[in-house]
Amino acid sequence: MGYNVVWALRDSEICTSPLPVKRMRPPRDRSAGTGRIHTSVAMYVITHSPPGVAAVSERSLVLIKPDAVRRGLVGEILSRYERKGLTIVALQRRVIDSALSDAHYAEHVDKPFYPGLREFITGGPLVALVLEGDQAIDVVRQMNGATDSRAASPGTIRGDLSMSKSENLVHASDSPDSAKRELALWFPELS
Ligand code: CMP
Repeated sequence: MGYNVVWALRDSEICTSPLPVKRMRPPRDRSAGTGRIHTSVAMYVITHSPPGVAAVSERSLVLIKPDAVRRGLVGEILSRYERKGLTIVALQRRVIDSALSDAHYAEHVDKPFYPGLREFITGGPLVALVLEGDQAIDVVRQMNGATDSRAASPGTIRGDLSMSKSENLVHASDSPDSAKRELALWFPELS
């Protein structure tokens, strides 16, 4: 239970079987549901999901902030996301104006730290991207680490590469609702 056996064929044809792992063998005619005998099986991959937990593909809006661009950390940060298995769906380097900052950080505009945050986020180029993958919103936030980089765990982007709460290298959507709002704001062409 809970195993998916994915057969990758030499001709790039993919077929799946819900067989238990102990019965794995190259798919043949009816077991693969394709009505043909596959003689060109090259390899297989096994993915395991706990019973009842289905994969949930999500998109998260991520900002690689001006401090990361200034420090030459864009490649390092993108590489971490890619190595994790997330897909870059869109990517754009840009300098944003105050209006976009205010809209993006709408929940923070009245907070005492916001004027400094706006000056920082509009003060140089940043890289905006859309990351996609299974439970991507939570996965990316775990990878980014705690907002205060000084308290962020080692192994996270902030924990490894930053010592600041205000200049903390990255931003990511914190919920499906905020992802929807932020994606529409930054990449309306994808909505
Ligand atoms: P981010 O994930 O982009 O979401 C809101 C941002 O506000 C946060 O990262 C920090 O950059 C910034 N921030 C949050 N709290 C503070 C604070 N107390 N002082 C300065 N900046 C903050």
